[in-house]
Amino acid sequence: MAKVELKNLTKKYGDVVAVQNMDLTIPHNEFLVLVGPSGCGKSTTLRMIAGLEEISGGEIYIGDQKVNDKDPKDRNVSMVFQNYALYPHMTVEENLGFSLKIAKVNPNDIEVKVKEAVNILGLEDLRKRKPSQLSGGQRQRVAMGRAIVRRPDAFLFDEPLSNLDAKLRTQMRTEIKKLHQKLKTTVIYVTHDQVEAMTLADRIIIMKDGFIEQIGSPIEVFNKPVNVFVATFIGSPPMNIIECEVIKKQDQLMIKLDDNILFNCPENKIKKLTNLNNVIVGIRAEDIVPVHSNNDNKNLLWSFSKDINLAEPLGTETQLFFKLQNQEIISRMYNPRPINVGDKINFQIDVNKIHFFNYETKKSI
Ligand SMILES: Nc1ncnc2c1ncn2[C@@H]1O[C@H](COP(=O)(O)OP(=O)(O)O)[C@@H](O)[C@H]1O
Ligand SMILES: [Mg+2]
Repeated sequence: MAKVELKNLTKKYGDVVAVQNMDLTIPHNEFLVLVGPSGCGKSTTLRMIAGLEEISGGEIYIGDQKVNDKDPKDRNVSMVFQNYALYPHMTVEENLGFSLKIAKVNPNDIEVKVKEAVNILGLEDLRKRKPSQLSGGQRQRVAMGRAIVRRPDAFLFDEPLSNLDAKLRTQMRTEIKKLHQKLKTTVIYVTHDQVEAMTLADRIIIMKDGFIEQIGSPIEVFNKPVNVFVATFIGSPPMNIIECEVIKKQDQLMIKLDDNILFNCPENKIKKLTNLNNVIVGIRAEDIVPVHSNNDNKNLLWSFSKDINLAEPLGTETQLFFKLQNQEIISRMYNPRPINVGDKINFQIDVNKIHFFNYETKKSI
């Protein structure tokens, strides 16, 4: 059981910088998720921690020990991969015990540890089966069992659920979360799936091009994204992003949401927007609320009506599509009623729910 610390960690492959100056402390027992698009450096980070990849600069600590020069087997971390890499000719039991056997642990101790892993993961009935006789989910559970028997200081998961179908993925997600609660150990988990990241993490790191864009709890990164990238990466459907002109009319600062749709700039943003010509407005689909009649409180609410281009009923909600500045916008209606293409719908946005981003830097304002 240990914390993991990365200091100024960097990895270069020739000219490609895969991970750049990463600083990070992962406290003992934290479930940390690294999320980001393909190629952003997630696997490289994990592989450097495991010792499977040489580092180009910086330091890695596991517990209080600097492990830069330690072999993977001496770092006391276990890695679980997307392809389960089980030994096909061995039974579940033999697969679970194999790493301990190699490490010359005595057979009685191996049996105790294997039994424990079998209990934790509910593999009792599968002990004597070979991997070919298991489903994808069961194989992944055995792969996790192999990591558990080694009692590592930290578990490293690299997209462990990507090979499973959607339903199984959801089930296994719950299992992994429960497993973490049982084992009380540090987990570093890599995924490109933001839903997986949100549901599993104590803290999420959103990466892009080898850099950390934001670190925070799932709620923090959802409610307070630091830039347009995080805002559109976390949350589904992605946050609506609208490039708007900032207009000064007499003494008023206005935001032009669409042709003929102008709103007062929210009070608390006036100072920050007053010298800008353009701003990026971000609004989540659930914050564009269809209403029966438009409210006139222009300081607290932005209200407008629009013709609907498409309505997609999903049961608990209907997604409504319309255009602002020639851009497709999505609104979520939670009390579904039948809507037809071409219907004019009134929408209302609470100004406190609107995100503003700098037009040039894309950073949150
Ligand atoms: N062995 C390698 N040789 C050269 N470039 C690599 C190698 N492994 C990874 N990369 C590059 O490093 C970057 C990060 O890769 P990776 O960590 O695998 O991303 P992720 O896991 O987030 O998809 C990518 O640009 C990738 O092409
Ligand atoms: Mg990867």
